[in-house]
Amino acid sequence: MEVRIEDLVKRFGDVVAVNHVNATFESGKLIALLGPSGCGKSTMLNMLSGILPVSEGRIYFDDQDVTSLSPDKREVGLVFQNYALYPHMTVLQNICFPLKIKRIPKKERIERAKEYARMVHIDDYLDRLPKELSGGQQQRVAIARALVKEPKLLLLDEPLSNLDAKLRVEMREEIRRIQRESGVTTVFVTHDQEEATSISDYIMLMKLGVMQQFAATRNLYNDPANLFVADFIGNPTINQLHGIYEEGSIRADGFAKAIPIGNYKIEDGTRIVFASRPESVLVSKKSGETEMEVEETYISGKDTLCVLNAGDGFLRAYVDNEDAPEEKTAVRVSFRKKGVFVFSEESGERYYE
Ligand SMILES: Nc1ncnc2c1ncn2[C@@H]1O[C@H](COP(=O)(O)OP(=O)(O)OP(=O)(O)O)[C@@H](O)[C@H]1O
Ligand SMILES: [Mg+2]
Repeated sequence: MEVRIEDLVKRFGDVVAVNHVNATFESGKLIALLGPSGCGKSTMLNMLSGILPVSEGRIYFDDQDVTSLSPDKREVGLVFQNYALYPHMTVLQNICFPLKIKRIPKKERIERAKEYARMVHIDDYLDRLPKELSGGQQQRVAIARALVKEPKLLLLDEPLSNLDAKLRVEMREEIRRIQRESGVTTVFVTHDQEEATSISDYIMLMKLGVMQQFAATRNLYNDPANLFVADFIGNPTINQLHGIYEEGSIRADGFAKAIPIGNYKIEDGTRIVFASRPESVLVSKKSGETEMEVEETYISGKDTLCVLNAGDGFLRAYVDNEDAPEEKTAVRVSFRKKGVFVFSEESGERYYE
């Protein structure tokens, strides 16, 4: 099922938790709602589920306007951070419960519950109580319980945040697999950019209720709409040099030489942020447009991370261990076209060539 939100707004008194958001979630895709704490992710999800009434705007499930439809009529499956399984019910009873409410005959509900238990790989534990399960297993039960109703939309609000780091990585891959297998349109809330990029088809990145970018996951990394997006996505964080644009170069603060960056549609004298992914900074002992000093080096697997001195700022770059320069020596630096962006320092808006 496709989900379309039109000019969606949610106000809590003076706080605009969701501010005029427009988007279409394609059927069968996994969409991550990403952003720092308080940016409006849960508010958005709760409006989709119907738990929270909208202040303005409309929500459509395919062609049906569901804006005023009650939660029980929306056919959505919900999983929260604390999975809230029924403690006195077994795994099987927990998964069956939504079907019992719907008065599905006992035989059929047990069959269906077992089918979803198998899908989430919890079928060996059907007779256990929630307290006899690990966090990851409880999580699977919660997902099976949400899926057993065969919802048109699955909504997950930070479902992995109670798990330890290793289990989180395992479970996010599981969620991806389960989502692919069930084919249900899924919205997954997280504040962790790595979690979002590792499982989603599309990401909506929010800041203070305002959608910053909604695009295919790799596009947020390769083609960020503004400085906030460029900075939020990517680990290590994108390099950022502040300075003044002048005839195809940046005069970076505290750095003597002009660094060529290409010709952008920017007036000379404008303050800019020159941002470069670490893998887009090319370091060589011989060729390269600008000389910089190597401040520090760290070995990281097969590569060496070099921290280059660029006045008040610095650049991180990777070189092959064999070609790693010595600390406190000079190297030549240039930039790839890909992974390099220029933004207004004042507004964070992106400039194009
Ligand atoms: N019931 C409410 N009453 C008043 N303000 C609220 C209410 N619910 C949320 N807010 C405010 O709306 C904004 C968005 O909150 P929301 O819970 O959607 O953020 P979030 O992105 O889910 O954050 P987190 O990552 O911390 O869960 C916040 O400023 C929050 O304080
Ligand atoms: Mg939240």
